[in-house]
Parts: sequence; C-alpha cells; structure tokens
Amino acid sequence: MQNPLKLKKIHHVEFWVGNAKQAAYYYRKGFGFNQLAYRGLETGSRDVASYVLQQNKCNFVLTTAINPEHPAADHVRRHGDGVKDIALHVEDADFAFEEAVKRGAKAVFEPKDVIDNYGTVRWAAVHTYGETIHSFISYKNYGGPFLPGFQSAIVPGEETGILLVDHMVGNVELGKMNAWADFYHDVFGFHRFISFDDKDISTEYSALMSIVMSDDSYFVKFPINEPAPGKRKSQIDEYLEAYGSPGVQHIALRVTDVIETVSKLQKNGIEFLRVPDSYYDIVQERVGPIDEPIEKIKQLGILIDKDDEGYLLQIFSKPVEDRPTVFFEIIQRKGSRGFGKGNFKALFEALELEQARRGNL
Ligand SMILES: [Fe+2]
Repeated sequence: MQNPLKLKKIHHVEFWVGNAKQAAYYYRKGFGFNQLAYRGLETGSRDVASYVLQQNKCNFVLTTAINPEHPAADHVRRHGDGVKDIALHVEDADFAFEEAVKRGAKAVFEPKDVIDNYGTVRWAAVHTYGETIHSFISYKNYGGPFLPGFQSAIVPGEETGILLVDHMVGNVELGKMNAWADFYHDVFGFHRFISFDDKDISTEYSALMSIVMSDDSYFVKFPINEPAPGKRKSQIDEYLEAYGSPGVQHIALRVTDVIETVSKLQKNGIEFLRVPDSYYDIVQERVGPIDEPIEKIKQLGILIDKDDEGYLLQIFSKPVEDRPTVFFEIIQRKGSRGFGKGNFKALFEALELEQARRGNL
C-alpha cells in the first residue's frame, strides 16, 4: 500500500485567525515569509480575507472572517488562532476524495471546480482530528498567482532560510492516538515510523505518547500525540483545554543552516524555549562531534540529538498566540530522520516551567 491517494506534497497550511492582516505582518517580519497573494473586499471576496505567505516550498494561508456568519469567525471564538486545513496537493482530487472516503474518511465537501480568470482547480476535503481538515487540490490548467480567488499582492520579506514543512503534529485526546494513527494508515497508506511511549517522554509531572505516521517517501510526516497520565497536568491536556478540541500542536520548519535561521528569527523577536545551560555540559558527550560551533549553538539555545543515521539540530518556539496552543519548531537534519527523542526530557522540563507560569500545571 504505497500511495493510495496519489499524494504529492503539502500544498499549504491554512490558519484561521482573528486578524489576518496583522498575522501576515508577523509571519513576514518575524519569520521572513514573502507575501505572495491576497483576497478580500478589494478582490470581491465578501466573506473572508486571506493572505498567502511563502518561503521556498513552505506556503501559509492566513484567513480571517469578514462576515461574522462565516465559520472562521466562530472557529476563532472557540479555538483562538489555529490551523484549519493541512491542504494536500494530489494528482487527482476526485480520485483522492473517492478513495479516502471509501477507506473511511469523513467528507467535508465533494470535489468541485474552483474557477477564476486564470483557470480551474479541482478541490475536495475530508475531516481529520478535531475540526482540522485535509483539502485535496489538483490542477487542471491553472496559471494564477496561487489558487482561484487570489490576486497577486507581492510584499517581499527578509528570508530566514525556511525551506519546507518537515512535519506537523496533532494533539488528540487520551486513548485516541492509536485510532488516529490507524486513520493515517488506513486512509493515506502511511506507516508507523517511530513511536514514543510515556517512558521515553515522561518528566516528573507530565507525559505524552506519540506515534509518527509517515508516507513511504518521508516527505509527509504527521506525528500524533496523546496525553499520558502524570503527577500533574500533561502539556497535551493544557493544549486540549486551551484549544477546546484536538488540533495541530506544532509545525516543524526545515532549514539548511539552523544557526543562520535561528539568529535571524531571534533578532526578529520570535521567542524560543530555553533549556538550562547545564544541558550543554553533557551534550557533546551524548552526541559526539558536530560540524557546528558548540558555543554558538549554546548561545542560541539550539538542541542536538543523534541516532544511528546522523544527527539533527532543533529549537522550539513559545506558543505564537495568547492561548498556549500552536508553536513552531525549526529543524536542520544532518542525516537523522528522527524527532529529537534525546531532547524530550530537557525540553519538557523547560516547557513545564512555562506551563507553571501560566498557572496550568
Ligand atoms: Fe516536532
């Protein structure tokens, strides 16, 4: 069962937000995205305004409701800003939709033509965890700046070296992780790549379990987390309460030079979790020699992990909303296809410190 839906890649990630104009500014100035396209009142879009932000192969769409009756308005009231759609580029949206539904996915809407002066795309969508959806998009002969309805609206950002979405993690309720892993297996043909149990990821207080689902080519990876019982409230429980349902917890952005990217992001004011300096006392012993200067790594607060295939460098932002929900990971892979298991303990202790500051531990 290789690629039953004929999936090509992640087309874009759509966030439903309270103020897309200001969010676009944040991703442009903070993360260095280029603004590519826009729809809103000026382009004849009466219900929503959206901004398309792009950096290399990473596309974000930020959408806000203009019409209070549009579902994005109520979505923001209940969840705060969050990821609505992990949209997938497929060979044939009709085929992907029919096959997905046959394999047990629930339909959001059936395949339809979406048209503007630049041409036509076929578009369908199915539900995944919480209120998150997967769009299936395929192109007929489309030549516009992004997708039908959008007009070119270029505002360059100062790029920071973000290449693509490496993985996107979903948080689901206790006891539901296996069912959602099965969903990605049964519907998408993904396999269980790695799993972490509570022994891997427990700290004194809070714990989680995780299964990484991947396509056969490792281009699309969707880890699924659920809370594990601990002495205090799990970070996953905190998310589920704040978001009001299962949803996307973090988006990992792959870069080619983590030092360069993280230096720029920190200068731009993006806030990251910091582990105690003592982490760096033993890190070289744990991972062996690395190409990057360890002093610089320490100064920026970048974490390192190693497995049989190589190593990786990663760092996690604080939540990018006032509710403790979605955050970002910046990751550079040097051979490793892992997720930083060796960093979980140090990281989660840093995270719990933040959680305690919020009064949620
Ligand atoms: Fe991650």
